[in-house]
Amino acid sequence: MSTRGLFDDMPIDGGIDGGIDGSQEIGPRARVLRAFARPVAGELLKAIAAVERISPFRHLVTPGGYTMSVAMTNCGALGWTSDRRGYRYSSIDPETGTPWPAMPDVMRRLAHDAAAAAGFERFEPDACLVNRYVPGAKLSLHQDKDEQDLDAPIVSVSLGMPAVFLFGGLRRDDPTAKVPLFHGDVAVWGAEDRLRYHGVMALKDHPHPDLGSHRINLTFRKAG
Ligand code: SIN
Ligand code: FE2
Repeated sequence: MSTRGLFDDMPIDGGIDGGIDGSQEIGPRARVLRAFARPVAGELLKAIAAVERISPFRHLVTPGGYTMSVAMTNCGALGWTSDRRGYRYSSIDPETGTPWPAMPDVMRRLAHDAAAAAGFERFEPDACLVNRYVPGAKLSLHQDKDEQDLDAPIVSVSLGMPAVFLFGGLRRDDPTAKVPLFHGDVAVWGAEDRLRYHGVMALKDHPHPDLGSHRINLTFRKAG
C-alpha cells in the first residue's frame, strides 16, 4: 500500500502543490520539507527520551477547563504551558518546579537547518514544545501567538504515526488545507504565514515501526 493510501478517505485539498516526496509549498512563506528529519530520527527519539526523564509528558488543562488529548512537555530555555489562568511561556516546569531540560544539540541544529531550507536564515529557537499523540488525540485550530518574536518562523517536526495537519488562514473560519504529515516531515511557516490558524485532526491508528501507536511532534519557536 502506498503511504497516500492511508488518507484515501481524507482528500488533500486547498492549495497544495508538489508531490508527497520532496518539498511542498503550503503558503507563500510556508513549506513542508518531506522526510527532512529522517536522517536524525533515531537521535531525536533518544533525545526525547532524555527530555521526558526530566520533564515528563502531561495533559495540560486549557483556560476553559478542558484537559488536552495531546500530552506535552518542553525543552529549551522556555516551555509552553497552560492552566486555568491562561497560556504562557515559563522557564520553570510547573510540574517539577525546576528548569525545563536543555534543548539537545540535534534538535537545535535540525530546527536551524530546516528553517534555512525553507528560506528563514539564522533561526535560533529557545523553546521546543514536544507533543505526543495517541489514536483519537487531536489539536483544535489555533494560532501560535504567545511568542515575543513573531518574525521568527515556526518549525514543526513529525515523528511516528501519520497525521492530517490542518493549515488555515489568518481567520479562524478561513478554509483549511488538509496536509498529511509523515515520519520525518518538517513543516515551516513564518513571515506573512506566521499567524495562520492550524491544527491536527484526530489521529487514526496506523502504528509506526519505531513508535507504535504514537505520534510525536516537536514545535520549535523563538519565544523570548
Ligand atoms: C502545534 O500546532 O503545536 C503542533 C502541530 C502538530 O502536532 O503537527
Ligand atoms: Fe501550533
